[in-house]
Amino acid sequence: MLKDIWAVVKPWFFICISTTFFFITVAKLISEGDLDTLRSKKKFGEAWFGNLWRFVGPKAQAEAEGWVISLLEGRVENGRAAVKTDAVSHALEGVVLEVGAGSGMWTKVLADIALASETGEGRTPIKVYGVEPNPMSAAALKRRVEQLGLDGRYEVIPAGIEDLEKESPLKPGSVDCIMTVQCLCSIPEPEKNMRLLYEYLKKGGRWYVYEHVRADEGVFIPAFQKFTNFFWKRLMGTCQLCRPTTDTLHKIGEWESIDLAVRSTESRYAAMPHVVGTLKKAV
Ligand SMILES: C[S@@+](CC[C@H](N)C(=O)[O-])C[C@H]1O[C@@H](n2cnc3c(N)ncnc32)[C@H](O)[C@@H]1O
Repeated sequence: MLKDIWAVVKPWFFICISTTFFFITVAKLISEGDLDTLRSKKKFGEAWFGNLWRFVGPKAQAEAEGWVISLLEGRVENGRAAVKTDAVSHALEGVVLEVGAGSGMWTKVLADIALASETGEGRTPIKVYGVEPNPMSAAALKRRVEQLGLDGRYEVIPAGIEDLEKESPLKPGSVDCIMTVQCLCSIPEPEKNMRLLYEYLKKGGRWYVYEHVRADEGVFIPAFQKFTNFFWKRLMGTCQLCRPTTDTLHKIGEWESIDLAVRSTESRYAAMPHVVGTLKKAV
């Protein structure tokens, strides 16, 4: 019962925190005398979301961690996570593109996978490219990479997906694995940019997805989600609550297999339902 109530009101909890961070960001910029950022809508939005995510990110990470580790280790199937020893598909390997890497919430998980891939038999070592356009988050991500001693194995690209061609050494068809964790809700022009990411994937490459998506079950929750999104999209950076990400991924290109489902633990009343799983590009 409590779990279901929380599942309904959760977006409003984040909206309240974000509203508080609006005032914190204004106060911080005034105290630093940074009127330039205060006057620019884009720069202020980035500073606001950067401050917010530094606080909210670890909470979102704590909730997602078990799922994301299982996903990246190849232990998720049909929205369910298998136990540690039971891999149902492949773990992350080779050239990896972490999209919307934020301030580096998953860098430690990636460092562990990198170590396992270097010592494990028959595994291809990973080299990660982390794409992050928010300057505050990209700077924090760089610090995290240095802290974890990942130099040479994790390269930060301080740009958005749309600038990959200009800002990264990657070429279309050169990426073994893409990971998107709670970021397809935030990218601009989702269909165009997801298609662009699809082009970067090698034939037979895998896309690991953990995203909150549009609610489709019943009538009340989808309507409530739409109502909430009116406020959400104005207060949560570029994030949107009602993205039909599963449908978009289905139609952006040809897939050999798609295993993407709502988390088995999700409440049926979730106003922010999450899908988890892997898509394999057709060869
Ligand atoms: C909700 S945060 C999630 C960050 C991180 N994946 C995590 O789980 O902590 C969404 C991220 O998407 C990033 N983002 C927004 N637009 C983007 C774009 N065009 N290309 C790549 N990332 C983008 C934001 O800057 C932000 O860091």
